[in-house]
Amino acid sequence: MSPSNISVIAIDGPSASGKGTVAQRVAETLGFHYLDSGALYRLLGLAAGKYGIALDEEVRLAELVGRIDIRFEGEDIWLDSIKVGDELRTEEAGAAASKVAALPLVRAALLDKQRDFCRAPGLVADGRDMASVVFPGAELKIFLTASAEVRAERRYKQLIGKGMGANIAALLQDIQARDERDMQRSVAPLQQAPGAILLDTTALNVEQAVSEVLLHYRAKK
Ligand code: DC
Repeated sequence: MSPSNISVIAIDGPSASGKGTVAQRVAETLGFHYLDSGALYRLLGLAAGKYGIALDEEVRLAELVGRIDIRFEGEDIWLDSIKVGDELRTEEAGAAASKVAALPLVRAALLDKQRDFCRAPGLVADGRDMASVVFPGAELKIFLTASAEVRAERRYKQLIGKGMGANIAALLQDIQARDERDMQRSVAPLQQAPGAILLDTTALNVEQAVSEVLLHYRAKK
């Protein structure tokens, strides 16, 4: 549980909603720490491949969480002393993350790793269950979403910008499949938590979305 004197802003939402960018900018503006919880699930998917563990071997995967060393330094992420590059952001890594994320023992094993990020002066945490499970006492809870079509377009631009290949129709299909799996799973499904404010960014740019979150946060002070 987060210490009650540390401000936590929980930003949950579906894949490619832009919540990562928004959460990072909000954290920068407030001088808060930032937790990209999706990156932890993505890292575990990568580590599973490296250690030859299938994505449905729940017990072995949960045990792997305790063995791997994960380090975040600014924009850089390290897995067992090896810097992880763009392979973390591929659609394959996202799909693997979504599979391991459906396993209750894996989610439980990752809880403490996520809560360790809660340090003074505050934390902006982005994911699917930040408000409902990991930081239920968060001062501000936002459910950030956008239409699947706009999310596919954003992901397309992001991948092209990184020099990776992409196809909009395939991305849309992928996003819809991932939404379905993330919403239907029995443990910590993707949903708007009680008390969370809905922020639909379909017609908003990043600056507007960041301003909205900051307005809500300042209104709580
Ligand atoms: O936010 P992302 O696309 O990097 O997340 C990758 C996958 O991890 C996503 O399909 C769902 C899962 N995830 C989760 O179940 N819970 C979180 N808190 C964050 C991500």
